[in-house]
Amino acid sequence: MKTTRSVILGTGASLPRRVVTNDELSKMVDTSDEWIVQRTGIKERHLAGEGETTATLGLAAAKAALSDAKLEARDIDLIILATSTPDHTFPATATEIQSALGTTQGVAFDLQAVCSGFVFALATADKFLTSGSHKRALVIGSETFSRILDWTDRSTCVLFGDGAGAVVLEARENLGVIAERGVITTHLRSDGRHKGKLYVDGGPSSSQTVGHLRMEGKEVFRHAVGMITDVIRDAFAAAGIGASDIDWFVPHQANRRIIDASADKLGISRDKVVVTVEKHGNTSAASIPLALDAAVRDGRIKQGQLVLLEAMGGGFTWGSALIRW
Ligand code: UT7
Repeated sequence: MKTTRSVILGTGASLPRRVVTNDELSKMVDTSDEWIVQRTGIKERHLAGEGETTATLGLAAAKAALSDAKLEARDIDLIILATSTPDHTFPATATEIQSALGTTQGVAFDLQAVCSGFVFALATADKFLTSGSHKRALVIGSETFSRILDWTDRSTCVLFGDGAGAVVLEARENLGVIAERGVITTHLRSDGRHKGKLYVDGGPSSSQTVGHLRMEGKEVFRHAVGMITDVIRDAFAAAGIGASDIDWFVPHQANRRIIDASADKLGISRDKVVVTVEKHGNTSAASIPLALDAAVRDGRIKQGQLVLLEAMGGGFTWGSALIRW
């Protein structure tokens, strides 16, 4: 039976110029390279400088993904930007990127699911493409979390970084079997009861300020592995596969210990896990497309392979996506 699948045609990434090491941070707050590496696996992160914003980083990643897909902006009729750090409260930063790409056709909008944003945006784009309403999508994750961090709070400011990643998707007809390219299954969840464990203490309608990120790290950690593994098991069940069928596991890059514990619990071999957290820190919605692009560029992820994505973040929100690359 003929069906439609969203096939990934290209990836792109963009990182701010400035790299900040743990040692540099230890001059700003009471921390150390040893503590940060041991607790998180992070060694350095990129931080946005003057002129670098969620829109400029997202635009650069989008252009790189289009070039990788050998497409032009005019070929795209759907742009979804996952971000929690938009350039403005409105309009959507996605429309700023659309305008900078020089296109007016189709639709562009932002989607906010914090660190799960890219998986939520990918799943949303997949629904648009497989419904037949749109043909080609740019899905971007772009963040400048450095601008919402409390730089006096050592328990959060050492964890995050800035950056952007993007993928281009195209709706293609196929027979719907697991061997064929495209997004095979996506699974999204949320539970708003956990709001106080990871949030920003400001907003237009509450404080009329941008606010700062607040996190009960231990509490987030306590829930993360269970939520991640649950939603991955949902993907395995829907696709009728197991951990050994996966070629690459590309998780949200929050903490090396969460990534390792999730892979171990699922029985995914650690040499199949793409890890970039040591170089990028936690870039929220940008972390998965940044990791995807790194693994495509260095030749690890190849066409025809089975790639599993997973993310968990504020809300809580969490989700998984299984893709035949
Ligand atoms: O992407 C969205 C989802 N976010 C996450 O997944 C983050 C999940 N949580 C985590 O990754 C970890 O909980 C952290 C990395 C945030 C913290 O690791 P932890 O092992 O849970 O440490 P902790 O919060 O229990 O803190 C242990 C100690 C405390 O000192 P005392 O009370 O034991 O004396 C903290 O004050 O480490 C101290 N500490 C630090 N020390 C040096 C906290 N931050 C720092 C720091 N440098 N930057």
